[in-house]
Amino acid sequence: MEPVRQPDPDLLIDFDNVTVRRSGHTLVGPLTWQVELDERWVVLGPNGAGKTSLLRMAAADMYPTSGTAVLLGETLGRTDINELRPRIGMSSAAVAARVPLDEKVGDLVVSAGYAVMGRWREQYEDMDTDRAVDMLESVGAEHLSDRAYGTLSEGERKRVLIARALMSDPELLLLDEPAAGLDLGSREELVEKLGDLASDPDAPATVLVTHHVEEIPPGFSHGLLLNEGSVVAQGLLEDVLTAENLSKAFRQSITLDRIDGRYFARRSRRLGRHRSNRNR
Ligand SMILES: Nc1ncnc2c1ncn2[C@@H]1O[C@H](COP(=O)(O)OP(=O)(O)OP(=O)(O)O)[C@@H](O)[C@H]1O
Ligand SMILES: [Mg+2]
Repeated sequence: MEPVRQPDPDLLIDFDNVTVRRSGHTLVGPLTWQVELDERWVVLGPNGAGKTSLLRMAAADMYPTSGTAVLLGETLGRTDINELRPRIGMSSAAVAARVPLDEKVGDLVVSAGYAVMGRWREQYEDMDTDRAVDMLESVGAEHLSDRAYGTLSEGERKRVLIARALMSDPELLLLDEPAAGLDLGSREELVEKLGDLASDPDAPATVLVTHHVEEIPPGFSHGLLLNEGSVVAQGLLEDVLTAENLSKAFRQSITLDRIDGRYFARRSRRLGRHRSNRNR
């Protein structure tokens, strides 16, 4: 019999050799991954690499087909996920799609806290409202509090959903492509806010899924590169985010630059042929 592993209190995510399979197809894994208390992770990989599936497992929204997934010390499949989920904040396209368009922004944010504090709702209503304002402020969206969610721009919606994810004071914050669909200015604003959050020692451990290295906020510490559900590289961001690893993950030759703590990637120019043409 295998010995029962004791949960490590410093590990928020402890995935041991997990796979997720559906209809005979492996979406994720086998993958072993650990996220500690003060870490800020970025998960990168091409379309279909398994990023959202991995994040759903980290949100206790999907179970591993094999292996052991321990979240906040609780083993998936052996714990009440209704108690676990409020401890995890998640913003994703799926969460966004569930928001009624006529929902008032302030109510949308404050209601995220009720999942945890339902019993104290009457008593703490003012406290909740104040916290919702604080959370909106932390993402630069306090002025949107009285607006209907459906009237917000894409960038405003993304920020409001992050405020909602933070409302219940989660131990783990999961963001699936928070900058998707944003224009340059809105993306930069969001990257800055997420950078502020990353540098706040009281902020929860964070996992950010993105398609673009340009969207990695300064202060993120770790990286996980996926391709077809498998890990290409994982560890400290500066070790993981190299032209070589990105080229492997995206299966093409990538050139990577780092300027002022930010990353920029593009496909490498195929110098050989052009050069020989030019020299002819
Ligand atoms: N329930 C399911 N049944 C079968 N296949 C699935 C299921 N959910 C996801 N997949 C497949 O698993 C693979 C990984 O999907 P996932 O959404 O995790 O990728 P992703 O890395 O988030 O991609 P993207 O960058 O496009 O968002 C895809 O090929 C997808 O079609
Ligand atoms: Mg996805």
